[in-house]
Amino acid sequence: MKGIILAGGSGTRLYPMTIALSKQLMPVYDKPMIYYPLATLMRAGIREVLIITTPRDSGLFQKLLGDGSQLGCRFEYAVQSHPRGIADAFNIGRLFIGEDNVALILGDNIFYGSSLHQQLSERLNPDGGVIFAYHVNNPRRYGVVNLDATGQVDSIEEKPENPRSNYAIPGIYFYDNEVLDIVKGIQPSHRGELEITDVNKAYLKMGKLHVSVLDRGTAWLDTGTVSSLMQASQFVEVIENRQGQKIGAIEEAAFEMGYIGEAQLRQLAEPLRSSGYGEYLLSLIQHT
Ligand code: TTP
Repeated sequence: MKGIILAGGSGTRLYPMTIALSKQLMPVYDKPMIYYPLATLMRAGIREVLIITTPRDSGLFQKLLGDGSQLGCRFEYAVQSHPRGIADAFNIGRLFIGEDNVALILGDNIFYGSSLHQQLSERLNPDGGVIFAYHVNNPRRYGVVNLDATGQVDSIEEKPENPRSNYAIPGIYFYDNEVLDIVKGIQPSHRGELEITDVNKAYLKMGKLHVSVLDRGTAWLDTGTVSSLMQASQFVEVIENRQGQKIGAIEEAAFEMGYIGEAQLRQLAEPLRSSGYGEYLLSLIQHT
């Protein structure tokens, strides 16, 4: 399965911070935001990733992440000239996806939890589409999924006034290759965007939309506003300082997944030592 990180957008809710710099390059505590969704894909077993950014920021992402070979992965880059919607990722990524299945993750979504990667990796070969459901206090800001008595998808609604459930749909979606045809048939919404909800509705109509509920031990944070960005940073700081283990460290993910060995981890760690990040990576070798 291939992966796409959608890291464009305009980030207006973070102005003035995002006037000159992409939201997904901003720090979430001790690392750039995009590390978190990238580590999530890598830990799910996905090593080929397309990173979609604005034309303005593409060079910076390439400087940060390179071609992925240093992590035993393969990264490609593409640009989205205007924020035409989340589902536009499949038009942009058509060639990259080829005949494979694809996982799409939003560049500003952070996931953390012990059972999460197992849960994601079980869904790598979907027959249709897989969305995830996460219980939240206030689902009105999100896509909302309502489940029937057997745990199947009953309905999905985008930012409903009166949500039928508390299950928000987080920014990670798995699809089979049919998504490339589905997206061709979708029209832009009243806000001028190709909506991911319309992709999911198309799968639902075909009886091929599956849902996997993320358990309460999983954290899902988004970082779209100043306050939620701050909360995400604080969350990561609290967990990391308490446990002495990092969240979203892509080098650690590569090492633990067996994409790279000790010598390569050492090489990645060396230039990062003075921030403490490199020391942390080196400590992983000592602990094995
Ligand atoms: P949003 O948070 O919906 O939009 P945004 O990042 O442009 O921010 P704002 O509302 O503050 O202006 O986007 C969610 C994620 O998806 C984010 O990582 C940006 C990305 N995205 C794109 O890359 N292209 C798009 O066309 C859209 C709609 C979002």
